Amino acid sequence: GDTELKRQLVHRHIRPFPDFPKKGIMFRDICPILKEPAALAAVIDLFEEHARKNYEKVELIVGLDARGFLFGPLLAQRLGIGFVLIRKKGKLPGATVSVVYDLEYGTAEMEIQEDGVAPGQKVLLIDDLLATGGTLLAACELMRKQQAEVLGCMVIIELKELNGIEKLKPLSVYSLLEY
Ligand code: PRP
Ligand code: HPA
Repeated sequence: GDTELKRQLVHRHIRPFPDFPKKGIMFRDICPILKEPAALAAVIDLFEEHARKNYEKVELIVGLDARGFLFGPLLAQRLGIGFVLIRKKGKLPGATVSVVYDLEYGTAEMEIQEDGVAPGQKVLLIDDLLATGGTLLAACELMRKQQAEVLGCMVIIELKELNGIEKLKPLSVYSLLEY
């Protein structure tokens, strides 16, 4: 149906790059989606459809640095709700709450403005891609510190073999495409 056609349109606008950023990695580049209005609209349509059906009570979209910022505000506008940023450390002014998380090599830190989300607020997390799940898990930890309620996560791409879905359980992650 319509949903499948939109998925196919999105799929045609993801470009694989072998050996980026390192040998052996197949990088899935979402830039062509942004260059084609119909493909970008399809992404937001699919996110909106899923959110309206499953997360009727959502009050806020929370997007992850950096590529969550490309899609989150468009979705929030469609839903008539606000958008808040989770950023890599040192980028946000004022009082912030932060969390340290593991990367392949070493650690990183992400943060949100202290008044970004209110206790009890129902949020949806959005990013472009789920790999190991470390990034979304850290975002969940930030939301927990803020006493916000995470209804779910949405991404364009899930990289199945890294099994990020398992790490995030029992939280549900909706993806448009799997690789
Ligand atoms: C990528 C991607 C996700 C994250 C997924 O971002 O956009 O945010 O990695 O990986 P994970 O599931 O293993 O945590 P990256 O860290 O490359 O940062 P960027 O968005 O600033 O490019
Ligand atoms: N594409 C984009 N971002 C990523 C990827 C990828 O394949 N893997 C981890 N982050």
